[in-house]
Amino acid sequence: MSPARNDKPLTLALSKGRIFDETLPLLAAAGVQVAEDPSASRKLILPTSDPGLQIIIVRATDVPTYVQYGAADFGIAGKDVLDEHVAANPDGIYQPIDLNIARCRLAVAVRKGFDYQSAVQQGSRLRVATKYVQATREHFAAKGVHIDVIKLYGSMELAPLVGLADAIVDLVSTGNTLKANNLEAVEDIAPISSRLIVNQASLKTRSARLQPLIDAFARASAAKA
Ligand code: ATP
Ligand code: PRP
Ligand code: MG
Repeated sequence: MSPARNDKPLTLALSKGRIFDETLPLLAAAGVQVAEDPSASRKLILPTSDPGLQIIIVRATDVPTYVQYGAADFGIAGKDVLDEHVAANPDGIYQPIDLNIARCRLAVAVRKGFDYQSAVQQGSRLRVATKYVQATREHFAAKGVHIDVIKLYGSMELAPLVGLADAIVDLVSTGNTLKANNLEAVEDIAPISSRLIVNQASLKTRSARLQPLIDAFARASAAKA
């Protein structure tokens, strides 16, 4: 590793919204403050109170990519996003900690009144709309249920309402979004929370600077478990 690379600030990849908001207290526990709010700013590189640490703001699904390629030394991503990424790109990312933030669950949901259990028992082929193609295939394969997956990028709750799909696989937290759209969860797939992820090369070459931050995050998140 060249000295120039080691002089660069550590780069933490975050998505704006709930992950950024829920990471601020973890950074504070490590003695780091962030002056700018990405929701109110167009800036994508945010300095912090530590001149050796900067934050980049990327789409939630892109966080693992920035970390895998070392464009960010570390990042925070939901287990949902991470599992999809790792299924396609298994190398380069180390996942040391469950941060216990952005907690929700991945679940199968259908229109109220759709008899999901009967459809499954009768061996009907189901159309399932989701952003989480890998997790969906795995879940239904394990149950021995044949499905056609329809890949969507958002607003999955709409799909059963307009006849695009019989079921969706999506994140559920309070259940308010399902309720507002006359849907119900019929099966839980996995609990979800966000993970700290670290570029494997950075962990080796920049550990003197990374490890204290990882340790502070681990302490702060254990307190939330
Ligand atoms: P984009 O807005 O760029 O499409 P996104 O919707 O995936 O991305 P967020 O809603 O901020 O971005 O979600 C980031 C992560 O937070 C998800 O990957 C998931 O792990 C978690 N998450 C999503 N929705 C909820 C929720 N309702 N409650 C708790 N955690 C959630
Ligand atoms: C997420 C997720 C669900 C919703 C579930 O959407 O995609 O739609 O939260 O949460 P609930 O059970 O508490 O209603 P988000 O709020 O991130 O909006 P988005 O469509 O912009 O991703
Ligand atoms: Mg979202």
